[in-house]
Amino acid sequence: MPGLEGPSDYSKEPPRHPCLQINAKEPFNAEPPRSLLVSSYVTPVDLFYKRNHGPIPIVDDLERYCFSISGLIKNPKKLFMKDIWMLPKYNVTATLQCAGNRRTAMSKTRKVKGVGWDVSALGNAVWGGAKLADVLELVGIPYLTSTTQSGGKHVEFVSVDKCKEENGGPYKASIPLSQATNPDADVLLAYEMNGETLNRDHGYPLRVVVPGIIGARSVKWIDSINIIAEECQGFFMQKDYKMFPPSVDWDNINWASRRPQMDFPVQSVICSLEDVNAIKPGKVKISGYAVSGGGRGIERVDVSIDGGKTWMEASRYQKTGVPYIADGIKSDKWAWVLFEVTVDVMQSTEIVAKAVDIASNVQPEKVEDIWNLRGILNTSWHRVQVRVGHSNM
Ligand code: MTE
Repeated sequence: MPGLEGPSDYSKEPPRHPCLQINAKEPFNAEPPRSLLVSSYVTPVDLFYKRNHGPIPIVDDLERYCFSISGLIKNPKKLFMKDIWMLPKYNVTATLQCAGNRRTAMSKTRKVKGVGWDVSALGNAVWGGAKLADVLELVGIPYLTSTTQSGGKHVEFVSVDKCKEENGGPYKASIPLSQATNPDADVLLAYEMNGETLNRDHGYPLRVVVPGIIGARSVKWIDSINIIAEECQGFFMQKDYKMFPPSVDWDNINWASRRPQMDFPVQSVICSLEDVNAIKPGKVKISGYAVSGGGRGIERVDVSIDGGKTWMEASRYQKTGVPYIADGIKSDKWAWVLFEVTVDVMQSTEIVAKAVDIASNVQPEKVEDIWNLRGILNTSWHRVQVRVGHSNM
């Protein structure tokens, strides 16, 4: 598309914050240190994880930038940024989480394929933009449509980045039309992140944000939107980001047997402690994040200081001065919940966290039970070790 281009090498990458832990340099994949992650409810853009599959696209002329909406609709259209800016603007606070979050820990059980991530492949941002439902209305698709007259059932988002998994083609993904045209699903074509113009790493000039599902479907650097009959056939929908049982390995995998992963299960992580910690006996503040998919709030976060034998409940919060209620109208339904509890630790032990969402879904206890060859959705109980020393610490 005019105005936006996907480079074929990494010579024009944007600057990044030096404190990010780099998991892969080219394409650039990085996450903040876990201790910094929960220091604010809204993650600063610089510290927000960056997950890429190719070099970062470049806008040469924002006025010329446009994208097409076509496919199984009567009136295909080209839209410019001014058309998007003219629509009502919404600010949606939503957590994006990569399906590969906590992959490194899953890999320790049995090797998995993919970029390794610690626990910070997620962030919570205030995304500003137009609702996709309003954008689709511009091409004659009313709210709450699940099938267009010509049989369109899915909305495919195509980018301009050059990805090796797509043999140099662009990243793409789709979501059901029923979700895209539901204004309450809050799917955005976002041009702002935390009140500022989106930066290059996060999709400038325009990206999709699909709250409540794995980050892989929130396509950055939009080049075209297609209304299609079947879900997107791209690599990242069909040959990646699918959940397999532990019995499936590379010699018996049948990609077609599983659906693309969309929703995210309930997750929680302790961020105030590393995997192994040396501490003095006494009070320890334990804090972290909990989040679930589908807009399901967090009903409870349980913390154990004896490896999971007994539990206590942590306090949960989002915005200062607003008590968090899991399905309350003042809560940000698509956003994470931070938790905190102070405990007395007198001897070396394992500290564990697990969360329960409003559908009473609970995190699985053991990573072995959810091991899968692509290492996605590691939502097992989060465990950290503390070694208590009594002198000179
Ligand atoms: N969109 C494009 N065009 N290219 C990508 O590589 N990565 C996806 C998604 N959208 C990706 C993309 C994945 S896997 C995730 S988790 C999120 O973007 C990460 O978004 P972020 O880098 O803004 O955190």
